[in-house]
Amino acid sequence: MIVVPVELGERRYEVLVGPGARRELSGAVRRIGARRAVVVTQHGIDVDIDAGVPTDRVVVPDGEGAKSMAQVEAVCRAFVRAGLSRRDVVVALGGGVVSDLAGFAAAVHLRGVAYVTVSTSLLGQVDAAVGGKTGVNLPEGKNLVGAFWQPAAVLCDTDALSGLPAREWASGRGEMAKYAFLPGPAGDRPGAGAAERLLAMPLPAQVAHCVAIKAAVVAADEREGDRRMLLNYGHTLAHALEAAAFEGGAGWDLRHGEAVAIGLVFAAVLAARLGRIDDARVEEHRAVVRGLDLPAELPVGADPALLVRLMARDKKADHDLTFVLDGPDGVAPVRGVPEAAVLAALADMDNAVARRQPGGGDRG
Ligand code: GLY
Repeated sequence: MIVVPVELGERRYEVLVGPGARRELSGAVRRIGARRAVVVTQHGIDVDIDAGVPTDRVVVPDGEGAKSMAQVEAVCRAFVRAGLSRRDVVVALGGGVVSDLAGFAAAVHLRGVAYVTVSTSLLGQVDAAVGGKTGVNLPEGKNLVGAFWQPAAVLCDTDALSGLPAREWASGRGEMAKYAFLPGPAGDRPGAGAAERLLAMPLPAQVAHCVAIKAAVVAADEREGDRRMLLNYGHTLAHALEAAAFEGGAGWDLRHGEAVAIGLVFAAVLAARLGRIDDARVEEHRAVVRGLDLPAELPVGADPALLVRLMARDKKADHDLTFVLDGPDGVAPVRGVPEAAVLAALADMDNAVARRQPGGGDRG
């Protein structure tokens, strides 16, 4: 088992990564001192767990639909019916949707109870389950209500990934791709070939490497004052693409990590537009994304004006357009990016597609 600590003082916890990590659940529950547990999960998550104490189970709706205020109420009411006290524990069993919802319900139930996540998706293991960002969506947008509420432990059981559908693997790989461009756990700049090195590792080591990078960032900036924004590399456009589909009825079907993959290429194109990186570095981004079999182009029919409006609403932004962009000193938040540059970068993305079409003209 690989153990990655998240060093947050008295709220320090460990992320256990490897085959069979779920079997550490009863030990984690014992250390909390809980006498009851409520497991929050979704249909189809066929992973056997034993909390070692009397346990109730709440099954929430499938997919992103579970992340609603109505479900927070339903889950908290189930906690009350189960007699969950402040000293007991919530167990989030599932992917990012479940840990976001269950973690938020744990944060607000009785003003805060402990939770442990048993993460069953690649996306959850490399990102969502770690770092204490919990929350749900509003009709006005994704993740608009939430809390920073750290888990007491995170169990990333790589055995649980064996039945993961192909699109869910793709989604997790999109989130992994960003780590190829972020500083390593010791703050070291990622050199060329970082993605290849990551992918050459056995799966538990890949997951643990991503978790270690995330843990270092979270330990340095839990509340996203600055450094934690790095974890949103590729996410500004990704969130806009997701919002366009979620709220605006855009016709594409992108998993989160697939949207992040497109967002990583876009962030590189924008950074090049702003003179922060050269074309070779943009091509490195495209190569990593394509090498992971992920989309690198804007979806057909994407409306640049709508995407810019949605990107201006990003949580990093402060009444401006803020992006996390690569540059001479590595990836960093960049505020006040001119709208014209963003529109030009979106057009560059489309032009790159046109160049690759047969007969796509001049730009070979
Ligand atoms: N998923 C980005 C973060 O946890 O900060």
